[in-house]
Amino acid sequence: MKILRTVDELRQWSRTAKKDGVVGLVPTMGALHEGHASLIRRAAGECGHVVVSVFVNPTQFGPNEDFDRYPRTFEADCLLAEAAGAEAVFAPAVEALYPRGASTFVDVEGLNSRLDGASRPGHFKGVATVVSKLFLAAEPDRAYFGQKDAAQVSVLRRMVRDLLLGVDLVVCPIVREDDGLALSSRNRYLKDEERAAALVLSHAVRTVEELFRGGEREATKLNAAALTVFATESDVRIDYIELVDWETLLPVAQAAPGNLFAVAAWVGETRLIDNSVL
Ligand code: PAJ
Repeated sequence: MKILRTVDELRQWSRTAKKDGVVGLVPTMGALHEGHASLIRRAAGECGHVVVSVFVNPTQFGPNEDFDRYPRTFEADCLLAEAAGAEAVFAPAVEALYPRGASTFVDVEGLNSRLDGASRPGHFKGVATVVSKLFLAAEPDRAYFGQKDAAQVSVLRRMVRDLLLGVDLVVCPIVREDDGLALSSRNRYLKDEERAAALVLSHAVRTVEELFRGGEREATKLNAAALTVFATESDVRIDYIELVDWETLLPVAQAAPGNLFAVAAWVGETRLIDNSVL
């Protein structure tokens, strides 16, 4: 496993790799789990060379969020990335991606304040900025993202289109625990009773999927059904329940195939998200 620390090392690796194959990039913040592994395996199956970035990006965390305590498990991340088929890991220091005094950002207007962007102001600006830096440094042909962060996908698709970046975005399905909980690096924050309560997110999503499959199209009814599921767990605080157009992230009144049903909620101190593309 090659470990790259600087943008120059990454760029050189990528330019050499490109001479004999397609370069795939899997951006992550580390604390890798099977969800990340599924992205890396997919990339390895489709690209001759795969690099995984491991970077806890400070600009996408709010001042009162978990940047400092975000899990950092670099040794294990390298093993998982290698086993899943990555050739290199890019793990830069903060100063390597944000030169001192860096004042240039990428902000996808409109989408930046929808869903997670509404409760996490500046979050998507941080995501778009770091992913554009990763694209400029790695020059990948393809980049792999999880549907788990569905609003992030909308933001990045728009960014790639608007900035003419020419990177193919590949979106991979949500990987779940056997009981339905979507895998997340933040699940390790959950205490036992919170882990049980966290299942309301996937239950709510599955309930809406089933109603949609049964022919229900009224957004008010689908959202109300999800709300009823959340009401069974008084310790879970809803951030949002939304049925939206996946491209614009604007609410729809009538659900149609391809729409995004998404939820976010606080389980204790931990904010979790889940969704379904209907
Ligand atoms: P992170 O949360 O580490 O996630 C990295 C990638 O793994 C994202 O594309 C995310 O959607 C995907 N992923 C996470 N859990 C998943 C699951 N259960 N199933 C499938 N895919 C899953 O998302 C980020 O990092 C950052 O915002 C980043 C894009 C790296 C920019 O800093």
